[in-house]
Amino acid sequence: MVNFLIFGPPGSGKGTQSVRLAEKFNLMHLSTGDMLRAEIAAGTDLGKRMSSIMSKGELVPDEVVIEMIAAKIDGTKGKAGFLFDGFPRTVAQTEELEKMLNKREMKIDSMLVLDVDHNELVKRLMLRAEQSGRPDDKDPAVVENRIDVYKAKTEPIIDYCRKRGIYQPVNGMGTIDDIFGRLSKLMKKYL
Ligand code: AP5
Ligand code: MG
Repeated sequence: MVNFLIFGPPGSGKGTQSVRLAEKFNLMHLSTGDMLRAEIAAGTDLGKRMSSIMSKGELVPDEVVIEMIAAKIDGTKGKAGFLFDGFPRTVAQTEELEKMLNKREMKIDSMLVLDVDHNELVKRLMLRAEQSGRPDDKDPAVVENRIDVYKAKTEPIIDYCRKRGIYQPVNGMGTIDDIFGRLSKLMKKYL
């Protein structure tokens, strides 16, 4: 199996592109943000505990998302690989993911990082706030906090992956189709 991380700050287009890429390349799309929102929507205990953290734009504990991902990795059959979206978010999550994959004779093959200007991120999320029910899009201060948390806790993963030789920056500005074309071209080399 071939495994990709799609990476980038909030609003960089990870989710939008992942849905299309997963379909094109028969990949299992795993978004921890989507999984957490599904827990909240279902009114589970976990969802209730996580919702206040998420509405502030802070990260939920590493163990919570690691457990979610582990369950999905073992439950997936008939796919060409995994496309991890919004996970890992910390270096500790990255180390755990590597361990999980190595145990199953897999690895992270490529990290695709969407580069998008700060103003464009805010513009996209403000626009989505008008239609999405996401509480973390509604308040501009929470949007800024999500971007700050990305810089402080998530961006260090780039250096970690660069050392592994799997870091691949991608221009995340432009139309959804243009960016999809750029990502597809890079991913094709592995599939
Ligand atoms: P998560 O759901 O991962 O949210 P996020 O990282 O804040 O990113 P978004 O989903 O907002 O952005 P995206 O990059 O997917 O962009 P999208 O395609 O949607 O996480 C939410 C929360 O859950 C976290 O804050 C944390 O609390 C928790 N969490 C999740 N995972 C965790 C983890 N591993 N560890 C700890 N905590 C975790 O696009 C955004 C908008 O822009 C859309 O409206 C889209 O239509 C539009 N758009 C996309 N591309 C373009 C384009 N090219 N041009 C114009 N508009 C575009
Ligand atoms: Mg997303």
